[in-house]
Parts: sequence; structure tokens; C-alpha cells
Amino acid sequence: MIEIILSGSLVGLSLGLTGGGGSILAVPLLLGVVGLGLRDAVTVSLAGVGLTALYGALLQRHQVRWGAGALLGLGGVAGAPLGASLGASWPESLTLGLFALLMLFIAWKMWGGTNSSEVPLSFLTCRADSAGQLNFQWSCAGKLVAAGALTGVLSGIFGVGGGFLVVPALVLVTAMPMPAALATSLIGIFLISGAALVANLVALPTFPTDTAGWFLLGGAVGMTGGSWGKSLLSPALLRRIFAVTLVFVALWVAVRSWNQPATERESLSIEFRQSERLETQGREAAQMLFRHLMNRLEQAMADGGVVGAMNICQSDAQTLTGQTAEALNEKGIASIRRIGLRTRNPKNAQDGIDALVLRVFSKNWKRGDASSLAGQVVFLPQTGETRYYHPVPVAASCLACHGSNSDITPDVAHVLAELYPEDQAVNFAPGDLRGAIVVTFEPGPSSEP
Ligand code: HEC
Repeated sequence: MIEIILSGSLVGLSLGLTGGGGSILAVPLLLGVVGLGLRDAVTVSLAGVGLTALYGALLQRHQVRWGAGALLGLGGVAGAPLGASLGASWPESLTLGLFALLMLFIAWKMWGGTNSSEVPLSFLTCRADSAGQLNFQWSCAGKLVAAGALTGVLSGIFGVGGGFLVVPALVLVTAMPMPAALATSLIGIFLISGAALVANLVALPTFPTDTAGWFLLGGAVGMTGGSWGKSLLSPALLRRIFAVTLVFVALWVAVRSWNQPATERESLSIEFRQSERLETQGREAAQMLFRHLMNRLEQAMADGGVVGAMNICQSDAQTLTGQTAEALNEKGIASIRRIGLRTRNPKNAQDGIDALVLRVFSKNWKRGDASSLAGQVVFLPQTGETRYYHPVPVAASCLACHGSNSDITPDVAHVLAELYPEDQAVNFAPGDLRGAIVVTFEPGPSSEP
């Protein structure tokens, strides 16, 4: 619980000090520190960030330009889905690289900018009256919505971190001073997070209320501190803090684009679906394959002991899986595969989506969250593919080949080392999650959940 509150406060603090961009921390903290599964991390972060931002806007209400924030936020809500679908079709390293460059550029502008009236592209800027209030004409409202939509498209393309674009967009269009832009960006973030949360909950209405509650509590504490801290700092210093944060984010993004495969991007675009029909169909297919494999395994163990079975498994497991897939083709199933949390046979390697689902499975597995121990239907919007993931637990009978040193006899270890020099699939204990059987449905109307 304490780690949830602390994570929340960190997010709140950074939202308070750097505006909407602070939300970038939420998902990594919820995944890494709190240990939520991906889907829960996304919904809790959206709810936590959205409500913390709203609370922050109320705390700093004398600095918030409500109209500007709302227009920008609405533009963002409209633009984000477009950006997400655009971004999905670009190579990830290109998008992340561009994003890092954009961040560095903005950081440079922010660092150098001394005074808000010196915005270089003044024709883009709404006029303010002598009291500093915006002149809300159509053209100004239009510019704000357009800037919001552009921000939304960019954050949709770039995924996490897009929130950092809201503040520079506000400064550019409204020429408002930095403290006001930071406070106003919170309204935009509230609207954008809220819309994304609703979309997620409509797709799958489950939500870990307790975790979200503690996270929000932490967020409120951090935001109170951040708002107070912000009021002590001069606008120039705030700009520089923002610029330095951007440089760090840009570096982080660049490093990530360098050494991370496609999983994170895909995380934003897989949807967990509920469909009794597909679950039943997938479960039956998975159980059929499992039965075939177990029969063969038992027979091989009876004939040739563990070592003999190992040799037979090497060829027969793949053949049997292929045959089962063929038999299932008539039932609208395109393919069936086995994957491991840790892999033995390179032919069973995970793809990016597999890795992601397994991460979610294993987190839930550790928490003993019964609802998620069942199979899961997953939809991939980019390819239109529908899959069913069936968790495979470790039984005592698996240990002779997948257990620890004390379970695996030296001659078995010897054969293993020979057949699978890169074997990872050992040190499992009974009751652990071993992996999953992945059923991919034929595309078409029958695979629509
Ligand atoms: C006789 C040794 C042996 C036993 C017992 C055994 N396995 Fe395996 N297992 C293997 C071998 C060899 C492979 C790699 C060959 C293949 O299946 O493609 C493998 C692969 C797998 C895979 C595919 C992923 C990967 O890492 O390649 C899963 C899942 C799996 N085993 C689960 C189990 C479960 C669950 C049990 C117990 C019910 C079990 N195994 C018992 C030898 C064994």
C-alpha cells in the first residue's frame, strides 16, 4: 500500500511542478514498483493522473485559464485516436527518435525563452487584453482546438510522454506565462485522461478501485506539495525545470528506442476482450492440444524414461502441435502455438504481444487473482487479429524436465544442454505459470468478439 501512495505522490509532485508531462511516470511506476498488470496500470494511471490533475487545477485555480485549457483538451481528445493509429504503422524507433528530437527542440526553446511576449511565431498567438485575459474570438478558439488536436495526434503517435507537449502548445498559442501554462495544462490532461479512461472501461469494465484510491491519495499529497513548491519558484526557473525535465525525457526515450523491441508500443494497442464464445472455442482448442501432448509425453516417459521422452519431445511436440493446428483449421482457427514464460525451444519464441500478455498473466498469477487465471481473448487493432491465451501451469510431473537442479538428473541435464544450448525453461516450481497456449482465430466476422 505504501508503495502505491508513494508512487502516486511522485506523480502528483511532478504534475504539480511540470504540468501535464508529469503523467509520464505513472505507468512505469505502476508496472514496476506497484506490480500491477499492464491493463490495470493503464486504467489506474489514467484515473489517478486525470483526477490528480483536476485537483491540481482547483488548487491553482487563480492561474488556470479554464476556457483555453478546455478547448485545448477537447482538441486533444479528438486528435489522440488518430495519432495512435498513425503511430502504429510507423517503425517504433523512427517515432521515438523523432519524439526525442522534438523534445530537445522544445527544451531548447523553453530554456532560452525569457518572457512570454517574445514568442517567435506571434501570428499564431491569441491576443490578450491589457489585463492579460485572452480575447476569445473564433480565430483564437480555433487555434486552441487545432493546437490541442495536433498535440493529441502527436501524443497518440508517441504514446506516453505526449503530455509534455501541452505546456509548450499553450505557451505558443496563448503567450501565457509559464505558471499559468503549467496550471492550465492540467485541465487538458484531465480531459484527455478522462476520455482515454472511458474508452478503456467501455472495452473491458474492470477496475481495481482500491489501488486507484491509494494512488489518488498519494497523487493529492504530491500535488499539494508540487503546487506549493511551484508558487515559490519564479517563472524563469519553472521554464528551466521544465526544459531540463524534457532533456531527461528525450534521453530516456532515445535510449528506449535504441534497445527496446516493439513491446511497449504494442502495449498501447492491444485490447483485452470478453467473449464467451471465443473463450470457449479457444479453451477447447488449447485443451485438445494439451491432451494430445500429455498423452504422447506419458507414453514416451513409459517407453524411454525422462531422457528418452526428451528426445521424443523434441520432434513430436512440434509435429503434434502442427497436426492439431491442421485439425482445428476447419473450426475457424488459423494457428495454435505454445509459448513459455522462459523458453526452451527457440521455435516456441514469443512475439511482442505474447511477451506482453505473459507479463500481465504472470503478475496476476503471483497475486493469485482468480479472475485472470482463466484464458484471455486479445484483439490487435492494427492487424485485426484475434487471439486466445490459455495459461499453462507447472505440475509436479513437469519438474523432471523444467524444475531446479535437484529435480533434473545429471543425464537429463546433459541431454538438455545438448539439444537446447539456450534453454531457459528450468527452475520452475509446482503451481508456477509455465507459459501459455496461443490460439489465433481466422480473421473475419466469426472472430469478432
Ligand atoms: C520429458 C521432459 C519434459 C517434461 C516431463 C515436460 N516437458 Fe515441457 N518441454 C520439454 C521439451 C524438450 C520442450 C521443448 C520442445 C518443444 O516442446 O517444442 C518443452 C517445451 C515446453 C513448452 C513450450 C515452450 C518452450 O519453452 O519451448 C511448454 C509450455 C511446456 N514444455 C510445458 C510443460 C508442462 C506444463 C509440463 C508438465 C505438465 C511439461 N512441459 C513437462 C520437455 C518436457
